[in-house]
Amino acid sequence: MQHLKKIFWLLLITQPLVRNPAMAQEGEKLFKQNCGACHQMGKRLVGPDLTGITDRQPKAWIESFVKSSQTMIKAGDPEAVARFKEFNEMVMPDQDLSVAEIDQIIEYLKGFSAPAATAAEPAAPEAPMVFTDADRETGQALFTGRTRFANKGAACISCHNVTNDQVMLGGHFAKDLTGVYGRMGSAGVAGIIGAPPFPAMATSYANAPLTEQEVHALTAFLEHADKVSADQTARSLYKPFVIYGGGGLIALMLVIGIHWRGRIKQPVKRDIFARQLRSN
Ligand code: HEC
Ligand code: HEC
Repeated sequence: MQHLKKIFWLLLITQPLVRNPAMAQEGEKLFKQNCGACHQMGKRLVGPDLTGITDRQPKAWIESFVKSSQTMIKAGDPEAVARFKEFNEMVMPDQDLSVAEIDQIIEYLKGFSAPAATAAEPAAPEAPMVFTDADRETGQALFTGRTRFANKGAACISCHNVTNDQVMLGGHFAKDLTGVYGRMGSAGVAGIIGAPPFPAMATSYANAPLTEQEVHALTAFLEHADKVSADQTARSLYKPFVIYGGGGLIALMLVIGIHWRGRIKQPVKRDIFARQLRSN
């Protein structure tokens, strides 16, 4: 009995020091939904590894960075600016979360603060993605809309351009993706395609999620597009128009000419006049 009591007190005392498990659980859910495409614990993805962030930065700093990192960067916060530079000035989108929700995420992040806990489970080395030629071709067809997505989502080319000789000019609504693979790597690109952290893109696929194979194929295509980007020329709209439009018109006129070559070439009346003149 005495023994149990001791354990009870021990639990009660240590609990709040560690973290609030209920809050952390909610935080984990929020983290996976809102941050997971760019942040993963134990490794660098699109954004930095957040292991130990709660030891390095005060709660208020994390709260305001998550709310609007750009506001902090523009205000000249030295650590925020340094991180921004380190990550090639990639903008972390402002998160539409309440302070209470951010605090829940911080509670979750605290679980990765104790050095002992992270040292015990070193991050598994990332298995390199293997891309085949078939993957790249499938990815290109999906990107351009030649092949439809299984769930009928919009073709990427309607919003994004990739400069590649095999691909026609894409949309300019969103960023050019020619070199995105070089900047983010396979995990980053696949993470963003699989769970887009950008509202406009997320909305497009909310009811038409991409399959895992589709994400893999698209990543393969973007890897290829990045690799060969140096010797690709920007596709002009003009060239295909002249070739297909102009060439098509000439071909059509030839077909018409040949098909109706036996047509009457003079007014019908001429024959009638000729006959009448003869009978007179
Ligand atoms: C679109 C990708 C993206 C999403 C989504 C995203 N982040 Fe970030 N995050 C970044 C990048 C990139 C940086 C590096 C700093 C910069 O470039 O501004 C960063 C930096 C941070 C930092 C500073 C880390 C440090 O060591 O200084 C924190 C904290 C952070 N993110 C938390 C979050 C949380 C919490 C969420 C979800 C609510 C989130 N981020 C969602 C991309 C993202
Ligand atoms: C409705 C328009 C839309 C569609 C469709 C769309 N995206 Fe996006 N995408 C965006 C927006 C908006 C961003 C945020 C960055 C920006 O403003 O350009 C983005 C960002 C990205 C990024 C990160 C780029 C970077 O440099 O930060 C990648 C990678 C990406 N999209 C891939 C794709 C792929 C692959 C598809 C097709 C499955 C796709 N997108 C379809 C609108 C779209």
